[in-house]
Amino acid sequence: MTQHQRLLIIDFGSQVTQLIARRLRELNIYCEIHPFQSVDDAFLQDFAPRAVILSGGPGSVPAQGSPRAPSLVWELGVPVLGICYGQQLMMDALGGRVESGHHAEYGRAFISPAEGHGRDSIFAGLFATGREEVWMSHGDRVTQLAPGFQIIGTSQGAPFAIVADEARRFYGVQFHPEVHHTPNGRLLLENFTRLAGFTGDWTMASYRDEAIRKIREQVGDKQVICGLSGGVDSSVAAVLIHEAIGDQLTCVFVDHGLMRLNEAEEVVTMFRDNYNIPLIHADESDLFLGELEGVTDPEVKRKTIGRLFIDVFQRYAGEIEGAEFLAQGTLYPDVIESVSFSGGPSVTIKSHHNVGGLPEKMGLKLVEPLRELFKDEVRALGRELGLPASFIGRHPFPGPGLAIRCPGEVTREKLDILRQADAVFIDQIRKHGLYDDIWQAFVAILPVRTVGVMGDSRTYDYACALRAVTSVDGMTADYYPFTHDFLGETATRIINEVKGINRCTYDITSKPPGTIEWE
Ligand code: XMP
Repeated sequence: MTQHQRLLIIDFGSQVTQLIARRLRELNIYCEIHPFQSVDDAFLQDFAPRAVILSGGPGSVPAQGSPRAPSLVWELGVPVLGICYGQQLMMDALGGRVESGHHAEYGRAFISPAEGHGRDSIFAGLFATGREEVWMSHGDRVTQLAPGFQIIGTSQGAPFAIVADEARRFYGVQFHPEVHHTPNGRLLLENFTRLAGFTGDWTMASYRDEAIRKIREQVGDKQVICGLSGGVDSSVAAVLIHEAIGDQLTCVFVDHGLMRLNEAEEVVTMFRDNYNIPLIHADESDLFLGELEGVTDPEVKRKTIGRLFIDVFQRYAGEIEGAEFLAQGTLYPDVIESVSFSGGPSVTIKSHHNVGGLPEKMGLKLVEPLRELFKDEVRALGRELGLPASFIGRHPFPGPGLAIRCPGEVTREKLDILRQADAVFIDQIRKHGLYDDIWQAFVAILPVRTVGVMGDSRTYDYACALRAVTSVDGMTADYYPFTHDFLGETATRIINEVKGINRCTYDITSKPPGTIEWE
């Protein structure tokens, strides 16, 4: 367990609970999200939070059996902030009333200060312009305050939009301060944490020292293996572990032949030559491309690559004497247990490639030093560890590599063409200074040939699609609004410089309904 000052977020299933954690981490505050089902008295005592936030959620407080917080939350003597559903259950638990069937309020709303009521404590700085713009999303609402509470602010649809019991330091807001559409939400959260005594002690330098200490403690004098993909997460994990235990770490880079232009060499050079980290370069492209022959179904492709990856990794890792640990670059969003009210499994859109299943199969224990971090914090840690900025800022790249950017059968010919086209596109983006504004950009080679004319000759070559998106977390995305000049120049370059492509299109689908990758 970490020694930082800790804030507990109890999750009642809101779509935006993770954003509460994001905002707090931006304030250098350590917090964890736990689903309400797993928070009981023993957990609370053990966690010893300095403050508690109750998230929103899809439940309805008046409904029988709807989720609640353990009553110990109100007796810990620490500040509590209830957001939306969290506010309603707070009122209900402390003697107020919540009702369904009132006007639902979704989207933008404005809150005015209630007559004569305090705008200090967590509301300091709010209402500077007379009213606050906020983002609402609720059907039920509070209709009677719990004893001890006062109204601080009201909106048209929510007379109890902000309530407070200053003596006990309990606060409830009907809106969502964690979303960007509530411009002063961050200020409110900052005030709340300051009032709870947080000093912002969650910094990357302290995280790094603590992580190194923990890795040494966990691993002792045993050997660790780490699967490197060339991506930011596994690379940062490897460098951090190497700092902690030096040559007890061996990295295995499984080269499936589906990397981008020069990528495999770059990964090997960086780790072996620059960092002196023992690295096995498993060039298994023949195996992967051989097994992919004739495969056109995206799910079969993904599963084939995932299965081979595990086989190959296991084969190489088995040669490392005395390996007891497997290091993975698992991030916090991957470990947050999501709250499921239906209890059913969610639909599989795509089978993501990972090394899941390996640790049990090989009898290995896991080392996951990034489990508590969000993606941008991993980047900050990478900078702290001295990884080159160009490497840390790289766009995400999927585990199955170029195979899923090659709809239809994956062939060496298509991969070679795709690599060239992709390199030109990325070069264009860098030259125009757009790389850091874009979440991810790539080319997909399409399984169609089209007719063209170059010089005086007819051509019959592949068509390709350019894809570039903006996104915060890869869950939703929008296409990047390049200028027509940029697109025209890029298409001309690709068609002139890449033999095998004679037509270029730009994919303007958002996610949803599309996905970022084509398969
Ligand atoms: P989609 O295509 O699902 O992609 O919108 C969302 C993000 O995930 C990446 N992606 C993967 N990453 N293994 C990975 O490590 C995978 O199998 C995989 N499939 C998609 C994708 O590049 C985008 O950033």
